[in-house]
Amino acid sequence: MSDLFLLLLIIVLLVCLVVTVGGLLLYSGLLSDIVIRTGPPPIRNVTIAYKFKEGPYKDCGAAYTESCSIGPKLNAIGVFYDDPKQRPPEKCRYVVGSILCEGEEKPDEDLQKLYEKFGFKVLSLPEVSHAVTTSFPCTTPLSHVLGPYRVYPRIASYIEERKLCAFPNIEIYRSDVINYMVPLSRQTDFFVPEMKEEVRTDVKEEDSDDDRGTDITGKKILSISMHIGRWTWSRQPAKVQTECQNGEERWFK
Ligand SMILES: *[C@@H]1O[C@H](CO)[C@@H](O)[C@H](O)[C@H]1NC(C)=O
Repeated sequence: MSDLFLLLLIIVLLVCLVVTVGGLLLYSGLLSDIVIRTGPPPIRNVTIAYKFKEGPYKDCGAAYTESCSIGPKLNAIGVFYDDPKQRPPEKCRYVVGSILCEGEEKPDEDLQKLYEKFGFKVLSLPEVSHAVTTSFPCTTPLSHVLGPYRVYPRIASYIEERKLCAFPNIEIYRSDVINYMVPLSRQTDFFVPEMKEEVRTDVKEEDSDDDRGTDITGKKILSISMHIGRWTWSRQPAKVQTECQNGEERWFK
């Protein structure tokens, strides 16, 4: 008799546990609707305090925690440059930080100095007219784990299907929602100086004489290119070009 009671008690407790964990996962956004759109971005031009990192994207949490501990009232931001499917995880580049101000606002100077004291750098990011955007609820710490798993495959297939030239992936953490945006123009303006230093330079001598640039060694520079995710970004003397893997080209300078 008491054995049966014990068994029933265990079953009831197990059911409670499953319901609690299931409820927590659902509340954290496990099944929430993800609508991907092309349209105006969720942020205007912003000034951010950031740290540049290299490593697996799943380890970015510590950097968010650091940034939020300095300015708890500020929205956190992350910019992820590489596609982890195309580059070894330990070589994936990203920045994590906080938004100091947006649009016409001025940054709080004391707060900016505090960020700089802890090794953060300050940079302005431009406003773009169009981006691929979506959002995910930010209700529990689990949302930070579920968000990327649910959102990025959807964004990637949206971009792939429409053959868009969109990168890098940007996340903005607000108190109740995570906004995701992938700019459709001015992509290289979202590169921090540390990214640009990694530019792999290919200096080739040119056979024919024309009006292309010449560097100080007298060699003609044909192109400087760097590989970002699935894209090749190249700087030619007269223009900056982004070439998507699918052959689509967009000129933006
Ligand atoms: C946004 O752009 C405007 C106009 O160029 C500029 O005055 C403002 O300082 C910028 N804001 C931020 C936060 O960078």
